[in-house]
Amino acid sequence: MYYPWWYVPGLTAPMLIAVVAVVHVFVSHYAVGGGILIALENWYSVSAGDNTYREYWHKHARFFVLLTVAFGAITGVGIWWTIALASPLATETLIRTFVFGWAIEWVFFVIEIVAAFIMYYYWTQLKPNVHVIISAIYAIAAWISLVLITGITAFMLDSRGLFADWSETGNFWHAFFNIQFLPQTIARTGGSVLLAALYVFLHAAFTIKNNSELLEKVVRRMSAPIIFGAITMAVGIAISFYVLPEHVHRAMERAVLINVLVVLFFGLCVVLVLLMFFGPVLHPKSISQGFAVSLLIFGFTALATAEFIREAARKPWIVDQIVLGSQVYKDDIDKLKETGFLRESSWQKIPTNKIERGGMIFMYHCNNCHAIETGLSAIKPLLSNEDQKDRIKEKLRSLNKPVISMPPWSGTEAELDDLAEFLISISKE
Ligand code: HEC
Repeated sequence: MYYPWWYVPGLTAPMLIAVVAVVHVFVSHYAVGGGILIALENWYSVSAGDNTYREYWHKHARFFVLLTVAFGAITGVGIWWTIALASPLATETLIRTFVFGWAIEWVFFVIEIVAAFIMYYYWTQLKPNVHVIISAIYAIAAWISLVLITGITAFMLDSRGLFADWSETGNFWHAFFNIQFLPQTIARTGGSVLLAALYVFLHAAFTIKNNSELLEKVVRRMSAPIIFGAITMAVGIAISFYVLPEHVHRAMERAVLINVLVVLFFGLCVVLVLLMFFGPVLHPKSISQGFAVSLLIFGFTALATAEFIREAARKPWIVDQIVLGSQVYKDDIDKLKETGFLRESSWQKIPTNKIERGGMIFMYHCNNCHAIETGLSAIKPLLSNEDQKDRIKEKLRSLNKPVISMPPWSGTEAELDDLAEFLISISKE
């Protein structure tokens, strides 16, 4: 194979990506939504001449810049590390296709950081009107980076472009003229505003002391963004699910966990809207710290659920129609069946021992979705009733037939025999 494999015990490598990605999403969405809210509220308080309220947003900006710049940068780099280790082939494919997209994103990223620092450090020095413009520049740059990254995640879920004559895979524009792009952008924009307003609740509930009037004002002004964010996110996700490719729909129908998560996601959006409506909207008053924490946990859970479904729904693909979860290009399968799945390289010798060879094949071909002994979809319990080599080999030959979310077998008959030996050896242990 082109790259080394990476085994993450129990969890499997893609799930580690999901964990890092979810933590990153909690911060990166705040970086976008918080920018939008700061710009709007800054503008509002300047035009209304409300200095106390504007002073609150200055304090909030400190919390915002610290959290998003420091933590966002760490988890963002964390994603690059984990994807490069877990799915090097997919990472290579994405970099080749979208190098220009990332270049543009980094330009906006630099604008974002510069604008964030000017916004925070010159809050009181700059003329209010100029300051409002700086905060708007931050908000727009942050949102554009969300749009660019959403194109790439949309492409990973469905790599087809909207126009028939763009039938070749791996076209840059497939990311943005893609049926998933618009609903995902709507969902992420809504999710950003929702999450940011929930962070404001949290920050306000813990930092505003002895000024219930100000706290009440923050709660009143943030209620609409929470309701707007939750509804927009739910609508975007609903459309995005509706237009998923046919094979993803079929795989999702079979996966009980995914169905439970879908119900959980929409349930949480409804709960958030109802809590806001019957709480702060009908009875505007300051909120307790406990209420703010609970709301933020609901928001986190909703976002995490949506991300998890997106990751899980992609199987058997890492990049739709291009790279499979078995670390091979779809277009290479026929060739690999003749020339062999394992490839000798300067850093890796193919073992001469049959079981070790089978183990290496497992690490490339199966380790992306199956732990070995215990853990996520562990292979040992899945095979507990199988000790007959012929039956195991028969299963391997038609991996993608009963479970359409598994990639097809992509090696020679001899390698299939090696893998079967390895599977028997672990099921006997
Ligand atoms: C892209 C993800 C993915 C890869 C790669 C993958 N599987 Fe699976 N496999 C699944 C899913 C999803 C299921 C069904 C849900 C479950 O029970 O975990 C499954 C189920 C199974 C089952 C039980 C179902 C049955 O037909 O008996 C076996 C056995 C199995 N896989 C073996 C393998 C082997 C061996 C490999 C490597 C050659 C492999 N899988 C590679 C995703 C994958």
